[in-house]
Amino acid sequence: MVVYPAQSRHDARGPLCLDLFAGAGGLAVGFKQAGWTVVGGNDVDSNASATFRLNFPEAVFFEGSVTELTPRLVLEKCALAEGELDCLIGGPPCQSFSYNNHQRSDSDDRARLFEHYLRIVRGLKPKTLVMENVPGILTIGGGSVVAAIRAELGSMGYQTTLDVLSAEEFGTPQVRRRVFIVATRAGEPASMLPRPTHRPANPRKRKTHDLKGLKKTVTVLDAIGDLPPLQSGGGSQVADRAGISAFTGFQRQARRGCRKLYNHVCHGLTSVNLNRVIHVPEGGNWRDIPRDLLPAGMQRAKLTDHTKRYGRLARRGFASTLLTKCDPHWGAYLHPTQNRTISVREAARLQGFPDKFRFAGESLGAQYEQVGNAVPVPLAASVGRAVIEHLAACPQSSEVGQDAGKDCCRGEPSANERRRAA
Ligand SMILES: C[S@@+](CC[C@H](N)C(=O)[O-])C[C@H]1O[C@@H](n2cnc3c(N)ncnc32)[C@H](O)[C@@H]1O
Repeated sequence: MVVYPAQSRHDARGPLCLDLFAGAGGLAVGFKQAGWTVVGGNDVDSNASATFRLNFPEAVFFEGSVTELTPRLVLEKCALAEGELDCLIGGPPCQSFSYNNHQRSDSDDRARLFEHYLRIVRGLKPKTLVMENVPGILTIGGGSVVAAIRAELGSMGYQTTLDVLSAEEFGTPQVRRRVFIVATRAGEPASMLPRPTHRPANPRKRKTHDLKGLKKTVTVLDAIGDLPPLQSGGGSQVADRAGISAFTGFQRQARRGCRKLYNHVCHGLTSVNLNRVIHVPEGGNWRDIPRDLLPAGMQRAKLTDHTKRYGRLARRGFASTLLTKCDPHWGAYLHPTQNRTISVREAARLQGFPDKFRFAGESLGAQYEQVGNAVPVPLAASVGRAVIEHLAACPQSSEVGQDAGKDCCRGEPSANERRRAA
């Protein structure tokens, strides 16, 4: 385990959170936007670690497997007392639960990472926790994984609830559903889950739901329409901002505080793929490609097959769930009007990352992977705000997190106060 100390001091004004399985930090960015102070992160991947440290210099980073992380190390390096952390955030890896993995199994080693997550919870005794995962987790082992997690948290004194939240209903230009399991030691956990702020993408939901007060959905064009054109395989990791001015609120918000354009670079298509994608119109997919140009395996596919392979985004539509590879053979990753895949920055915009958030990594593939893995930032920010409101409405009693309680009773300064005094 390599421990990278914080590079700068944070003002510790907001409640304190720590991100496990942090990836690039999509969940943490959202929480920070909501007013949280991010005190630390952990991930086994060195590329994710580099990105997290670049964007959260105020946080301690634990690079290594969670299986080697101890609560004692976290408390010591983050200057926290047991029970003092306001929220433990982070979703154990989703590959073993994802619908995209056809060999899901609850005996998968990665499923065991939940046990380590719970071990950390037991040692840190956070006031609340927010666990994010793919919807597949709900059905794995007939729901036994989720039931076991909730039972274990219950035995530690937490009340839990969960919901499936749709990213597009929180201002993300992407259809992405994620399960949030939330837990608290005091109050009603349901108040930690936010209500949608934007209209649903699902036409049936539009008919059955009360849409009063909900904002208009954000489209692909709203999100990326101001980014300069690129050739397939073109772009650069850092460039001066040029070309089109921001023309939507989403774009203005994304650009705030960032004069340069980072990570606007895309994978090159092979000439074979380029010959395929020129046939795909906006909103179209592999069905628009002449059969004889398709890969051999797809030439036999039924036209009724619902895959989004070789899909091209529609300007007035949503992106479908971004995966860890922006490969046209995997899904709808073609730019709406240019014959190329979307750039890392465009993918990041579709996940709601602000432009000042920079992706590090040894390769372009590593950057796309971090973006695809992330929790959409606007969704994370909505959850972060709901948890702040929950904590304000339900102050945690001094019986919970015993050491923190004792600190408080003895009138000793909390970690927040110690940090401010430093
Ligand atoms: C779904 S991603 C997390 C995305 C992140 N929450 C975000 O919003 O950007 C899961 C992460 O778990 C990390 N991971 C996988 N196995 C791990 C382990 N044994 N210990 C720590 N992190 C691990 C992966 O490297 C990956 O970055």
